[in-house]
Amino acid sequence: MSFLSTSLDRIKPSATIAVTQKARDLAAQGRNVIGLGAGEPDFDTPDNVKEAAIAAIRRGETKYTAVDGIPELKSAIVAKFKRENGLTYKASQIHVAPGGKAVIYNAMLATLNPGDEVVIPAPYWVSYPDIVLLGGGTPVIVPTTLANGFKMSAEALARAITPKTKWVMLNSPSNPSGAAYTRAELKALAAVLLDHPQVWVFADDIYEHLIYGDFEFTTIAQVEPRLYERVVTMNGASKAYAMTGWRIGYCAGAEPLIKAMAKLQSQSTSMPTSISQWASVEALNGPQDFLKARAKAFEERRDLVVSMLNQATGLECPKPEGAFYVYPSCAGTLGKKTASGQVLKTDEDFVTALLEAEGVAVVQGSAFGLAPFFRISYATSTEALVEACTRIQRFCAGLR
Ligand SMILES: Cc1ncc(COP(=O)(O)O)c(C=O)c1O
Repeated sequence: MSFLSTSLDRIKPSATIAVTQKARDLAAQGRNVIGLGAGEPDFDTPDNVKEAAIAAIRRGETKYTAVDGIPELKSAIVAKFKRENGLTYKASQIHVAPGGKAVIYNAMLATLNPGDEVVIPAPYWVSYPDIVLLGGGTPVIVPTTLANGFKMSAEALARAITPKTKWVMLNSPSNPSGAAYTRAELKALAAVLLDHPQVWVFADDIYEHLIYGDFEFTTIAQVEPRLYERVVTMNGASKAYAMTGWRIGYCAGAEPLIKAMAKLQSQSTSMPTSISQWASVEALNGPQDFLKARAKAFEERRDLVVSMLNQATGLECPKPEGAFYVYPSCAGTLGKKTASGQVLKTDEDFVTALLEAEGVAVVQGSAFGLAPFFRISYATSTEALVEACTRIQRFCAGLR
């Protein structure tokens, strides 16, 4: 008998963290590696946010706080939901946790019982199924296709729902595909959900501010007010404000659920760091104009990467609406041989051979539940992206 919990056998370590580590290890051996695996903005946390954190330390805001967030941060979050999403919440409907991941964890663990099903469209963010499994629930994966823009259709959602369905996870714009749902697409999904009053929706909007062109961001509670009582709308400081290391995520939802999540957090992490909470008050209440400038920079990188990947033999890369990822298909390279004689059978073979031959680290689509694809994070400099895409083109051109 192992000393370790059997619940750990149900889950696997994050594939994106594993790739990032592998790239670091190769770099430490002196290899010239370009890491396109990490899911964090390369921009710095804004100065006004850093200053607010320093001021909080100087004021002595360095002690325990309320378990699920200081009143000032909850007020800033209430104002954010009103200002940006047209959603009205009270402070008692807000939960703050150490990161978006912790919000999801708290929501799932506070609600799931054995046998409960959670509908997850694929490709999905790597942590969703594992968090559901840790909570004792059953992930129900709904595959999407490149042809339908990696978006779950209303029909596919209707087919996936059973009497045991408790949640549907929606992530728009998506990690890993960058796909974002239009108002009409959300309305169609909402119409299905109105017929199933037992099903709640978890809307992970963490990439809300990374949206390109004239695409209009909307979230399901806004699109269908009749779902308001059973939607949890989640967001966080990590991606919008380049604050991944500060660990602040938050959500809004029905009061009884929010209370249950606070109860759970009171016996696990307790509150998120006091200093990060004060920094996030400034992030949400301070100037917001830089968000557009940063999104513009990401949009230029997206266009560059999509164009260069589509010039690589055997790859097909759709142009996503948001986030900082692309999710190209490598189907056209499978069955071919690398220069060193290896036949590529899966997307995992593709990414491993690419890393070994050209030192470019990307993540295989199978980790996100939809193969044969791979994910590139373009949250890095234009020079690094040009070099990486040139190497990918060379790698693909060398396949026979
Ligand atoms: C879709 C999605 N949701 C949630 C998170 C969690 O973010 P955080 O760093 O705030 O825990 C991430 C981070 O990669 C993400 O991609």
